[in-house]
Amino acid sequence: MARSLVTGGQGFIGGHLCLALLERGDDVVVLDLPGASGRALTLHGIAGEVEPVEGDVADRGAVDRAVKGADSVFHLAARTLVGPAAEDPAGTFRSNVEGTWTVLEACRDNGAGRVVIASSDKAYGPSDSLPYREADELRPAAPYEGSKAAADVIARSYCDSWGLPVAVTRLANVYGGGDLNFSRLIPELVTAYLADREPRIRSDGSPLRDFLHVRDAVGAYLAIESVLPAHGGEAFNAGTGEPRTVAEVIASVKAATGSHRDPDFLCDRNPDGEIDSQYVDATKLGEASGWCPNMAFADGIAEAVNWYRVFAGSDPD
Ligand SMILES: NC(=O)c1ccc[n+]([C@@H]2O[C@H](COP(=O)([O-])OP(=O)(O)OC[C@H]3O[C@@H](n4cnc5c(N)ncnc54)[C@H](O)[C@@H]3O)[C@@H](O)[C@H]2O)c1
Repeated sequence: MARSLVTGGQGFIGGHLCLALLERGDDVVVLDLPGASGRALTLHGIAGEVEPVEGDVADRGAVDRAVKGADSVFHLAARTLVGPAAEDPAGTFRSNVEGTWTVLEACRDNGAGRVVIASSDKAYGPSDSLPYREADELRPAAPYEGSKAAADVIARSYCDSWGLPVAVTRLANVYGGGDLNFSRLIPELVTAYLADREPRIRSDGSPLRDFLHVRDAVGAYLAIESVLPAHGGEAFNAGTGEPRTVAEVIASVKAATGSHRDPDFLCDRNPDGEIDSQYVDATKLGEASGWCPNMAFADGIAEAVNWYRVFAGSDPD
């Protein structure tokens, strides 16, 4: 039986990835912070089915315990919010950059077979040339972007230098049920409308983003794993290629919840340090693996609304 490690498995995408790995029959190990226990894995009802390792990804001892014997390593653990990252850049770099090289060192020493490292479309930074393509220069501006770009470059160097079969994911904005990061756009919108309050929107509604459903994101992780080691040292975008403005997303969620409330726009532009427009070209991953997104946005939003309704303990109808 294959053994897979998911760092950050108590998080939003990691929890869904653990579910998919268990479904395909893997033994699954999760490394996450002690305080994170009981979150995503409990939500998915799989807390008892994975082997937990509690610790920090920058702690080599904890990472070694988690990596030992793993055929595949999916490294998702990171501080993931743009605003808090700007408030604590050192802590963010420690988790996101030192954490990544610690995982890579452990993978190198333990001979991990396939290593998939979470970068992000944010690693590209602000650009007038969209969609982002993998060959584009990484030009991060804000600390979170810089941390993902650094992790991205470091990860690929482990393939070039030591032949470690590692590839990186550059995913668009991921959404869906199970995201407990309530400051993110879609969780805030859905929970606000379900609670019959005005959503607080950090921009003026103009930023443009590509929204990828979380099961399509998990599919991208597994597709990238499947093209290793042939595509070692490479980065892969994953997104829908159909960007939407924040205002369009607001309208979709408003319609899906049946709300009549208008949001409270907290800013008359995009907040400082956040990219105005971004979306990716995912042709490369499609050609390498056959991956393509399956979830239509309206269906994904309807499903997410239902998930948060149940989560909040409301009547699903
Ligand atoms: N959600 C998105 O839209 C998106 C888009 C592109 C890339 N990503 C990347 O995907 C990965 C997963 O994102 P997510 O949305 O699931 O985030 P999340 O915040 O829900 O989950 C991150 C997990 O990492 C854990 N973690 C944080 N610091 C840690 C540390 N020092 N040691 C051990 N565990 C630690 C957290 O406890 C949490 O369980 C991240 O690397 C993120 O940068 C996310």
